[in-house]
Order: sequence, then structure tokens, then C-alpha cells
Amino acid sequence: MKDRDDYTGALAAVMRTVRSHIGEGRVADYIPELACVDPDEFGFAVATVDGDLYGIGDHVGTRFSMQSITKVFTLALVMSRSGDSVWKRVHREPSGTSFNSLYQLEFEGGVPRNPMINPGALIVTDQLLADTGNAVGALRELLCAEAGAPDLYEDALVAQSEEEHGDRNRALAHLMTSFGNMHRPVAEVLDHYFRQCAITISCEELARAGLVLARHGRRADGSQLLSRLDARRVMAVMLTCGTYDAAGEFAYRVGVPCKSGVGGGILAIVPGRCSVAAWGPGLDAKGNSVTAALALEAFTDITNCSIF
Ligand code: DON
Repeated sequence: MKDRDDYTGALAAVMRTVRSHIGEGRVADYIPELACVDPDEFGFAVATVDGDLYGIGDHVGTRFSMQSITKVFTLALVMSRSGDSVWKRVHREPSGTSFNSLYQLEFEGGVPRNPMINPGALIVTDQLLADTGNAVGALRELLCAEAGAPDLYEDALVAQSEEEHGDRNRALAHLMTSFGNMHRPVAEVLDHYFRQCAITISCEELARAGLVLARHGRRADGSQLLSRLDARRVMAVMLTCGTYDAAGEFAYRVGVPCKSGVGGGILAIVPGRCSVAAWGPGLDAKGNSVTAALALEAFTDITNCSIF
């Protein structure tokens, strides 16, 4: 399906599916500043590899907190700079536990299950700091360039709120330090991690940024961020680990690589075809957006673009 009319029709059908569910779920409040969002917002945007853009709802102009969706982009940056070496410090298996769980990390010698959960992302940020000296700066640069939005910034209030309520992340980082797997000072890594999570973005901008993966690693300026093989690997990690311990359910229902964040956003990639950003602040029990998940399920069904 390529035609403008087809995508426009598909998005109208997505809206019909989602409309009666808008407002469902619980807005994340363990980072208090995140709870200030209007629960009735919903946005959905599709950016195609051919350069077209489609959207419905609050898809343009309204920015939301990227949170864990940033984990995809920091992983891509680290793989582009350090190659395979990061895989000595983090595994690539689904965790089956919550994204900020401590006990599995203790059992497994301070090596996180995957880079899509908090301890794994902290390792990636630590590595990106070693590679660049400014992890959040490198991430912002990549996102601004790929989204075509030079003014993407972290929300200082959200970053501060994360800092003030970040004891669990601090505990994860200190545990990894005790095992020798966290190299830089915990406070420095957490500062960059909290600020990276607090970057805000609209659906349209996020969909555009995700195209770097849909184009198999090729950036908006035509240069290659990742080899085709590494882009495939990032998407494989998204598919198996990107939606907390609901990754199996997402593979079943949506059928494309996805990464969610507690800000209510989900980035989905249809390799070779398009990048999709869905956002609704209300989360289900596993921490995934209710409306974004429903919308993505309807979209891949209607457009027949599951990878399976
Ligand atoms: O560190 C946290 O808990 C949040 N900044 C991000 C959590 C999130 O979106 C889901 N984690 N995988």
C-alpha cells in the first residue's frame, strides 16, 4: 500500500478504533511531573521512506516526554561508535521483569538483560559518555537532525522530577558499579540519563526520527548511521525487549519492532516502509500506552504490514 488515499483512509480507520478508548489507562505518576499531562490527548503519525507524512489527532505541535523511547537512539549511537563492544556489558534477552527491577540484575552479576530496560540503558549512556563526552548532547544532535527539528530539548521540570525520585535508578547504577560494570561516576551517568529521558517530541517529529531505522540505518542526509546489519539488530532488540514484559503480546498484536516509554509514546518501525509514532498518556498495567497500542494494532492490521 503506497497511495496517499490508502494511508489517509487507514488513519481514519485507526481513529475510529481508538476514539472511544481515549482517556483510558493511568498516566505515570512515579515521576510526579509526568502526571501533569492531559490524559485525553492522542496523536498518531506515519513517516514513509518515500518522504510522505500522515497524521491524526495531536500529532503535530504537541510534544510529549520521550522517556524510554530514547533508549533506541542511544543504543544506535553506541553501536555506530563502538561497534559490538557494548554487548560485553549488556545482554540481548527479554527480561520478563519490570524495567526497573533490581533482583535479576543482582542474580546475573550486574549485567543487565537488555538495553531497553533501565539498567541496560544506563550502561549504554555510560558508554555513550565515554564515546562522546556528552551523551545527552549527542542524542539531541541525532534527534534534531533526523526529526528535522532543531529545537528539541529536555523538559527541565521532568528531568528534575526524575532526579528527585530516581532512587531506584540510582540503586541499579550503584549495583552495577559494585560489579565493575558501570565505569563513570553514578551521578554523572544519571544526570545524562534523566535528561535524555526528559526530551520532548511530537508524534510527527518522532516518526521522522525513526526513519533512520526504517531506511536500514541511513540518515536523513544520506549518510549511514548504522550498517544494514546493525539496524536490523537494533530492530530485533526492539521487537523482543522494547515493550517491557509485554513484548510477546506486542509481537502477537502489532507484529513490528516497537519501543514504548512511560510518557505514553510508542515508536514502531516497519522496515523498508515507514516509521510510526503513537501517543496517548494513559498506560496499561505493564506500562504501555493503551491507545497507542490499540492504534498500532489497528494500523498494522489495516495496512497489512506486520513483519510476520
Ligand atoms: O527511568 C525511568 O524510570 C524513566 N525515565 C523511563 C522509564 C520508561 O519509560 C520505561 N523504561 N524502559
